[in-house]
Amino acid sequence: MKKMITYPEARELFDKYLQTDYLRKHSRETEVIMRALAKATGADEEFWGICGLLHDLDLDALNGDLERHGRRTVEILKENGYDIPEMFSAILAHVEGMEGSDFRRKNDLEYILAGAENITGLISAYVILRPDKKIEGVKVKSVLKKFKSPAFAAKVNRDFIRDAAEHAGMELREFIGISIDAMRSISDEIGM
Ligand SMILES: [Fe+2]
Repeated sequence: MKKMITYPEARELFDKYLQTDYLRKHSRETEVIMRALAKATGADEEFWGICGLLHDLDLDALNGDLERHGRRTVEILKENGYDIPEMFSAILAHVEGMEGSDFRRKNDLEYILAGAENITGLISAYVILRPDKKIEGVKVKSVLKKFKSPAFAAKVNRDFIRDAAEHAGMELREFIGISIDAMRSISDEIGM
């Protein structure tokens, strides 16, 4: 079993298992945010990026059966010859609180992944509201205002975002700023 995974290998799995357009965009958004947060906190950019890219790898295969979400991704990675406990644990931890999951976030990578994947939903929901539907002019204070309105994009887990900022050792507005910049860096790819 392989204890490490390279970025090209991760992209290969990404292309093999995830076809749904919005899931691919969400996974790439989570990847670039994780890379930016790793850079800001001195963590391993490549590894954190790959955790972000692959965190929802099983969603097409599960076809809505979310009770096995996360666990099926770990099975897929094992079926493809990987044994990377730190990544498995992070992928399992991002479904904390979901039905069928008894995993808990335990370390910085796990808290930050759960927050990064949630902030993509908040930023995307805000961008769609804008007349130009572009991320170009998005300001941190606008997203922060939406963060504070629980009825807006209600499925976005604000606690996970707050916890992630804390584990990254930064203020919420800095966490949001880094996330917006990261998504903006792939704006063409994600159609924003
Ligand atoms: Fe996700």
